[in-house]
Amino acid sequence: MAQDFSRKIIQNIQPYIPGKSIAEVAEQTRRTDIIKLASNENPLGASVTWDRLKESFEDINLYPHQAASPLVLKLCQHWNVTPQEIILGNGSDEIIQLLTQAYLNPGDNIITSMHTFSVYEATTQIMDAEIRTLPMREYTIDLDAMLTVLTDSTKLIFIANPNNPTGTIITHQPLVDFLEKMPKNILIVLDEAYADYATHTDFPRTIELMKTYANLVVLRTFSKLYGLAGLRIGYGIAHPTVIDVLQKIRPPFNVNSLALVAGALALDNHAHVSKSKALNESGKQFLYDELDRLKLIYLKTEANFVCIFLPILGKEVMQILLQEGIIIRPLESFNMPHAIRVTIGLPEQNLRFITALKKVLKR
Ligand SMILES: Cc1ncc(COP(=O)(O)O)c(C=O)c1O
Repeated sequence: MAQDFSRKIIQNIQPYIPGKSIAEVAEQTRRTDIIKLASNENPLGASVTWDRLKESFEDINLYPHQAASPLVLKLCQHWNVTPQEIILGNGSDEIIQLLTQAYLNPGDNIITSMHTFSVYEATTQIMDAEIRTLPMREYTIDLDAMLTVLTDSTKLIFIANPNNPTGTIITHQPLVDFLEKMPKNILIVLDEAYADYATHTDFPRTIELMKTYANLVVLRTFSKLYGLAGLRIGYGIAHPTVIDVLQKIRPPFNVNSLALVAGALALDNHAHVSKSKALNESGKQFLYDELDRLKLIYLKTEANFVCIFLPILGKEVMQILLQEGIIIRPLESFNMPHAIRVTIGLPEQNLRFITALKKVLKR
């Protein structure tokens, strides 16, 4: 076997293990009716049809051109920002990676929360930097606690809002108070992958806050509400100084041509956006009602998934539900072994999930 002479820090990293795919579960269970409620994808599908994509798509033999793509201009109009304040990524995951690459020296640290998105930690590890992880307060990110663990080497703070997998949020004023107290040489990354689903009237107006706080970075994605997870397209909005830094280190053609076209079309498909939001709201209410009836504890969500606590281990629940053809996410890797995360699906999918969950609870 060849010797692994990669950097020592890389040798200690565990690879990301994705959940099971529909095809894998179909083969394993010999069922044809598999539903995936594990990765918070849009159950209505993409906001763009193949026909519309083909109409707008140019030659595949040419390299993609980010700066000239209509997507950047559309995003500028959408958010009322300039092109110098936007960077596109191969999913918002990539922007997280660029941020850690650009700002972390070995020995620096990031601050993040327990029970949150794992990519902040994974990308930081690669840079040989320290991860300061704080407990949550009632499953909500504890901003006050973050202030107590700052050091001179703190470079980035990652806040998923709404948080994955709890679905909880930080509201506007507490965020402002936090930003006021934060040193200006620490970047505060607000990861708003699920913000499109948030209905709370006091959800932070982060783009507005960017005008006052130049150390604020906002991340958004087309993977969730817009249903383009497979094409990998997300973006960051920040002060031009920060965007310039990220532009310097991004791979030149990081976003493919199809994703650029699809993103622009998706932003214009207002009907799909409204329909997806409405579906999420009704599905959420259905799940709440059923979970109340089952007397299960769950967290009120501002996203497109619900975090449910169960009397048995989440990974056991997952195994049983797989036999019923339903893929959900156990939360052991998020340090919540007795919880699962289920994506809010189509009405018939939500019903199938609840029916199967009842069977699990009867065992
Ligand atoms: C909180 C959070 N941020 C970012 C992402 C990454 O999204 P993308 O598909 O844009 O890379 C996810 C994906 O699940 C997420 O849950």
